[in-house]
Amino acid sequence: MYPTIDESARAQIRKASDVLAAGGLVAIPTETVYGLAADADNRDAVLATFAVKGRPTNHPLIVHVTGLEALYDWVKVVPPEAVKLAQAFWPGPLTMVLPKSDRCGDFVTGGQDSVAVRAPAHPWIRELLLSFEGKTHKGLTAPSANTFGRISPTSAKHVADDLGVKPQGKLDYILDGGVCDVGVESTIINLSGKRPEILRHGVITRAMLENVLGVPVPDAGSDAPRASGRLKSHYAPQTGTEIVAGSIAARIEELADKKLAVMAPGASGIKAQNVVLAIDAPENVRDYAHALYENLHRLDAAGADKILVAQPPQTSDWAAVNDRLGRAAADKNAK
Ligand code: TXA
Ligand code: MG
Repeated sequence: MYPTIDESARAQIRKASDVLAAGGLVAIPTETVYGLAADADNRDAVLATFAVKGRPTNHPLIVHVTGLEALYDWVKVVPPEAVKLAQAFWPGPLTMVLPKSDRCGDFVTGGQDSVAVRAPAHPWIRELLLSFEGKTHKGLTAPSANTFGRISPTSAKHVADDLGVKPQGKLDYILDGGVCDVGVESTIINLSGKRPEILRHGVITRAMLENVLGVPVPDAGSDAPRASGRLKSHYAPQTGTEIVAGSIAARIEELADKKLAVMAPGASGIKAQNVVLAIDAPENVRDYAHALYENLHRLDAAGADKILVAQPPQTSDWAAVNDRLGRAAADKNAK
């Protein structure tokens, strides 16, 4: 699945760790998407990640750590729910929002008194974090390694094409750990309020969270803490994108005067003249999520006037996919 950690990988991971310790910015592989990492204790480095992404500095970042043992350094009070969830899902694609400790800087949390923490599972970033954390469980802030509002990166090439490495680009180093397995960002659960709530859907589903916690875990209301993934238009291709609930063939015919890039089950069988790229949508949700951003990148690069995506099943295990597609298709002016 991921490239194994051989001698050459070890040298690259060591380099990433050294660059981060010196205050540099490194794109890191995680199992969800590539992250734009900085030393979470280094104010200047963390603030530089906002500038590189073009992201407002009041949008909080996730602190990436090795596991539960590090949570106590970053969080003021660790409730039993957090322990249960960490035991069930860490390392893995779950982020928990909890009251921040004094150690965690305001520059990480966008001035909020809560912090988002996650222990990623990708073996390369685990190795990196283990070499980096030291005695004080140092962590890495890492937003997705894309320009603000663009499609998230699931390969080192996506990062190189968007942000790039200095001097032409903006990063100090890209650690190439292969293609991300999960393919969509982590599930975010807010544990800093009265009851647990979902801030962002991911492959760890509501049912999985409820199963561990034994209580309902609803979506957060509009008064929820700031999360840029909650902006209406996010993860967006540059090309106008439409989700098609009915017949994709009929919609292609209606748009006969437009060049179309299409993703639908069995799309490669479509013979219409105006379709410049047809991608077969995976039938299985894991495969669909894994390929989603790569497919959106390809659809966006096809030179089409419009992207059409057949609406996937509207069942709860497709929540993360439907959420990202909805945002990709949202009117950019609705930001
Ligand atoms: O899978 C992921 O989570 C990836 C990889 C790199 O780990 N990271 C990621 O980071 O998606 P980012 O910055 O693109 O999205 C993090 C989300 C944002 O929507 C942010 O607003 C929210 O987490 N967030 C961070 N801290 C928060 C807090 N204290 N309260 C509420 N939301 C928070
Ligand atoms: Mg992002």
